[in-house]
Amino acid sequence: MKRSKIKTAILVSGGGTNLQALIDAEKSGIIKSAKIALVISNNPEAYALTRAKKARIKTAVITKTEFGSRENAEKEMIKVLKENGIELIVLAGFMSILGENFTKKFERRIINVHPALIPSFCGKGYYGLKVHEEALKKGVKVTGATTHFVNEIPDGGEIIMQKAVNVRENDTPEKLQKRVMKQAEWKILPLSVEKVAKEILETEK
Ligand code: GAR
Repeated sequence: MKRSKIKTAILVSGGGTNLQALIDAEKSGIIKSAKIALVISNNPEAYALTRAKKARIKTAVITKTEFGSRENAEKEMIKVLKENGIELIVLAGFMSILGENFTKKFERRIINVHPALIPSFCGKGYYGLKVHEEALKKGVKVTGATTHFVNEIPDGGEIIMQKAVNVRENDTPEKLQKRVMKQAEWKILPLSVEKVAKEILETEK
């Protein structure tokens, strides 16, 4: 029988506010074509895991330490994703760069959210607060967030959506991060998941 929703896994490392935005969007019907079926964290302390449990979503913790290397941890992730019938993967504050072995297995099936307007302030070393620190250092007046497909190049895959956010004169990296999340990330990430999941369903009609 044909499925009506794409089973989706969210990969997290930290606070999980983007995960929360996805959970809320599924509940409110903004996300209709995907079902959040699994949350995987590479950090056992991530608050995102608590958010997932509160929403009764299955969780798994897969760490580099436990499996000896990033490659082995990624092999384990692939195994768990397959066991759970996952077709779409969302990196929502996942602070590890995925190797080619992983990204090749899920071509155009991994979405990442980055807290800047790619190609600015992106690539290796640009993650979390650091992105906003660099944006303020450069003195940009506009920044934002980008969702994109993930390939072997860090932040290098095809762009799905972008949203601009104004920088204010008295901004600190923390203030800017919060505004970018609220005005851009928490909006475009759920919309991107719906767009991609819907397209997967439609191509199979
Ligand atoms: C978010 O701002 C996300 O865009 C960023 O980390 C934060 C995670 O917050 N991701 C990256 O920098 C990836 N390159 P969250 O755990 O509250 O969603």
